[in-house]
Amino acid sequence: MAPTLNIIGCGQVGKVLGRLWTEHGTFQVQDVLNRSSESATHAIEFLGAGRATPGWDDLHPADVFLIGTPDDQVEPTCARLAESGLLRPGDVVFHCSGALPSTALASAKTRGAATASVHPIRSFAGADAVARAFVGTYCGMEGDAAALGVLGPAFSAIGARLVTIDPRFKTIYHSAAVFSSNYLVSLLDVAVEAYAKAGVPRDEALRLMEPLVRGTVDNVFRLGTTEALTGPIARGDVATVLRQYRALSGWDKRIGALYKRLGKFTAAIAARKRRQN
Ligand SMILES: NC(=O)c1ccc[n+]([C@@H]2O[C@H](COP(=O)([O-])OP(=O)(O)OC[C@H]3O[C@@H](n4cnc5c(N)ncnc54)[C@H](OP(=O)(O)O)[C@@H]3O)[C@@H](O)[C@H]2O)c1
Repeated sequence: MAPTLNIIGCGQVGKVLGRLWTEHGTFQVQDVLNRSSESATHAIEFLGAGRATPGWDDLHPADVFLIGTPDDQVEPTCARLAESGLLRPGDVVFHCSGALPSTALASAKTRGAATASVHPIRSFAGADAVARAFVGTYCGMEGDAAALGVLGPAFSAIGARLVTIDPRFKTIYHSAAVFSSNYLVSLLDVAVEAYAKAGVPRDEALRLMEPLVRGTVDNVFRLGTTEALTGPIARGDVATVLRQYRALSGWDKRIGALYKRLGKFTAAIAARKRRQN
């Protein structure tokens, strides 16, 4: 018999994982508890398993608990679970947040449960499509060995690629996604503004940038961040860099400061590249 799984907070992430584990027979989804019972009913329809539970009093004990609430509800929900008397020594309690460490589940540990966090590194917009495309998703995991001993194979069974992360640096781990995704967008926005300043309409600027950006990103994944660096700083063309810095500072001080700050990081990459070649 597959271990039983209760999902407290079954939204985008809970639905995808619950459906995949049901399809693979990894866990037997038992109780689903959301804020509203309508939402829990929709969730179990999506999972194709389990029971929509109207409230805490109707939950059964389970081998594994997924707390899939929004991040700000993980700790209070876990505290409520710990107080419920449902947890038995050796049960596994985990969350899927990238922002919170597994220590957010400390209250469950006081009841003898093993705790962990397994964070799928992808967007879950559109649960149906994500469930079909989940194979190959990287997941950052940390927590008790006993919990990871259950969750690691369960995530692997549905095609996850697991990486172990240092719980002390969970917030820094999470910020890496901000750099690689959100700040990339911010940088490209600055580039659009710079083209616009020089008279290129913004929509045309985006089209003009596309081959440059795609080529750079391809090179990063083909060659790595050191070898992919090109341009005036990589060539050691100090005169061009200074001219650009002065022109930018004269136009917009904040953008000038950004150019200078990024230039320092870029110079460090250029030095690394010279050392390697
Ligand atoms: N979305 C992503 O792209 C993504 C990616 C990686 C990791 N994560 C992480 O996965 C976790 C879940 O995110 P999500 O996007 O799946 O959230 P979500 O779609 O907003 O769903 C959250 C669910 O939790 C329920 N809920 C909220 N407060 C609750 C409470 N106090 N008790 C019981 N149920 C409660 C909600 O119920 P109602 O439906 O009744 O409101 C909802 O079904 C978070 O830790 C998030 O950081 C999300």
